[in-house]
Amino acid sequence: MKNRRDFLKTTCPTVAFAIFGVSLIQACSSSDEPMPNPNPDGSSPINNDSGGVTLNGNTATIDLSHSNFSGIASVGGWMNLTAAGLLLLRVSSTTIRAFDNCCPHQGTKTQWTFSNNNFTCNNHGNTFGTGSNQQACSSGASSGDLTEFSAVLSGDTLTVTKS
Ligand code: FES
Repeated sequence: MKNRRDFLKTTCPTVAFAIFGVSLIQACSSSDEPMPNPNPDGSSPINNDSGGVTLNGNTATIDLSHSNFSGIASVGGWMNLTAAGLLLLRVSSTTIRAFDNCCPHQGTKTQWTFSNNNFTCNNHGNTFGTGSNQQACSSGASSGDLTEFSAVLSGDTLTVTKS
């Protein structure tokens, strides 16, 4: 991915377009967007794959043994599990916290980065914490904390209940 991005940065638009075709348009136009900081294992925190995820009403049951979740195997790992609308954060060997991935500002779900225990939505650059001053999805808030959901870890199974 990085090699492809570097290649695209140096070759866009003419040469690469000729090689890769239409799909390149988005890759070129997104080169100025912030890249999510990687997990401890180097994996991308954004995951659009629903593998290992079972949704049933307000409950998401997540099989952490699935390869999609290697990024949150280590403490400090996080991911944006878009298939379930969740930001998952590994805080200890026995605890994973789960937050609504809907930005409290205007609802963007896919531009999160994480550092110093804060999530930043890079749509407008607002930063939200993980404390108790929870702000609702798309409520217009530009500060405060993300909405947190109940997350119960049992073996390799994480059960998140949205309420
Ligand atoms: S939508 Fe997230 S900061 Fe504006």
